[in-house]
Amino acid sequence: MNRVFSGIQPTGEMHLGNYLGAVRRWVSEAPIRPDNRSEALYCVVDLHAMTVAYEPAEFADRTRRTAMLLLAAGLDPERCVLFVQSHVSAHTELTWILNCIATYGELRRMTQFKDKGQGQESVSVGLLDYPVLMAADILAYDTTEVPIGDDQRQHLELARDIAIRFNHRFGETLIVPKPTFPEVAARVKDLQNPAAKMSKSANSEAGQILLVDPPSRIAKKIKSAVTDSLAAINYDPINQPGVSNLIEILSAATDQTIEQTTLGLHGQGYGALKSQTADAVVSLIEPLQARLAELEADLGEVGRILASGAVRAQEIADPVMERIRSATGLLPRLP
Ligand code: TRP
Repeated sequence: MNRVFSGIQPTGEMHLGNYLGAVRRWVSEAPIRPDNRSEALYCVVDLHAMTVAYEPAEFADRTRRTAMLLLAAGLDPERCVLFVQSHVSAHTELTWILNCIATYGELRRMTQFKDKGQGQESVSVGLLDYPVLMAADILAYDTTEVPIGDDQRQHLELARDIAIRFNHRFGETLIVPKPTFPEVAARVKDLQNPAAKMSKSANSEAGQILLVDPPSRIAKKIKSAVTDSLAAINYDPINQPGVSNLIEILSAATDQTIEQTTLGLHGQGYGALKSQTADAVVSLIEPLQARLAELEADLGEVGRILASGAVRAQEIADPVMERIRSATGLLPRLP
């Protein structure tokens, strides 16, 4: 059985970089096959998001909105398990058990902990424990594969170490997961600062295209994208980062190779590059916006999708947790 698990932060937003870089791929990968040899779980990790400052009044909306954006992007709840982390208690329960395996020293050394904790006058235990919760997410489902970006490499290594140590201490119980580093479909850069990737923390909103931007705003942002004065359409990210970024976006949005795109623009100027890119992005995003509007009009349906995702997730986690309780010597609760 091949089981894929990935966690998504509940930012409540999705930009073109997220969509073209990663989400579109999950959507097309159609994990649950009829033979049931393969299954994928996508978990909106609200408990992880509580480790940094957040606004409680907006939190539930952010969590739900993240799920809605994934659904609008085409994630099919019939083909994967989409659910919210806090809806399945195995995550927190297993975190406690793994807390007794993980060491303070290894958690303190995590680079993300050092970065996020730096300069804070008080650091919560939750922030320190973040990687253990992530290990629990993965290990509670007998996960075999975890698709991650490079920034999560160290956390995954820790999850593997914890699983190995657990098995050593309590006998073979946990499946030791492997990371996979999906090839990024497109590396989308900030439109105003093409040296940096398009990200939520970018300094200007003008540099990123949000999935919810109206078509006119998308066109405006693309038309104001930074280019250069070379007046030549070349894919050359070092010397022409702005132009190359637009070529990259246009290629991804039209499912063409970089070569096909540059060839198609032969002899034309930056104006043509920008208007073609704007048109392509708008036609790519419009159907997603239409689906999002349908979901917005039917929050009950969103709730039902997430509730049935949680039921399925729990069905998978239950026997794993039972095995873990028994291996660790916890007294069974008799019926
Ligand atoms: N820490 C991951 C991130 O910030 C999110 C995450 C939480 C995750 N649990 C996970 C990713 C389990 C993969 C598997 O991106």
